[in-house]
Amino acid sequence: MDLPVLKHQNPLVYTLRHPSKGLYKGWHWLSGGLARIHDRNAENLGAEIQNLFSNCDETETALANPDMHHSGGLRQRDRLVGLADLCARKYAGDMVEIGAHVGETSVRLAEVAVRHKRRLIVIDPWLSGSQDCEGDEYEMFLERIQPYQQSVDIWRASSMEPDILRRLRLRPLCFGFVDGWHIMKACYSDIMACGHTAGVISVDDSRYNLDLQFISRVAAKKLGRLFVQDPYQRECHLIPDSLLQK
Ligand SMILES: C[S@@+](CC[C@H](N)C(=O)[O-])C[C@H]1O[C@@H](n2cnc3c(N)ncnc32)[C@H](O)[C@@H]1O
Repeated sequence: MDLPVLKHQNPLVYTLRHPSKGLYKGWHWLSGGLARIHDRNAENLGAEIQNLFSNCDETETALANPDMHHSGGLRQRDRLVGLADLCARKYAGDMVEIGAHVGETSVRLAEVAVRHKRRLIVIDPWLSGSQDCEGDEYEMFLERIQPYQQSVDIWRASSMEPDILRRLRLRPLCFGFVDGWHIMKACYSDIMACGHTAGVISVDDSRYNLDLQFISRVAAKKLGRLFVQDPYQRECHLIPDSLLQK
């Protein structure tokens, strides 16, 4: 069985349907503005991350799942928890999740924050009628996060608001998870907003959504990070130099 087909896979069809985005992508590609894609076996990835990725391997689960949105995501929360834990052991600072929905990942990250005496910042407008929100997601989030509320800062706003960007810049961070508004402009803004994260920045849905994958590569290049998009993982990871083998 093959991996499911991806969104925006054919560049010609994409450019005909979205000419300005096609030209924008072509220009970045030609001008060398894209980080190279590495898979989870990249030689210079530190041993701890390599082990974590092989412990949460999705080769078989991704192939068995024909739905492109979910393929490679079965063990994603274990990977994120592992990365957040590794980053909290190595670096000072808090954690951030941009886009939290009903908090299923937030509670897992909050557990890591509590264990390391850090805080988890959660940013989401929970706007009824917008992407992924139909009405009671905020209440569901609050109920789920309640046991960890002493260690969580909830910023109910768009991650692109100037005041949110300013407040986030002031917070030292050890780990970032970007999973908010799934358009190129917002995803780029979100990655750059946590660009000062000392450890890993992970971005969801970049395997099937090639717009998100593209813009994450642009951001990785700008931030000077290794770009890891394993074909069997739903998310990508922007890895700082300090987590690479010399
Ligand atoms: C895919 S869900 C997040 C899922 C969550 N990270 C998880 O792992 O369970 C996307 C979330 O992004 C939020 N979102 C949409 N626009 C946003 C924005 N401008 N800033 C921050 N979050 C946004 C939505 O409200 C929604 O809750």
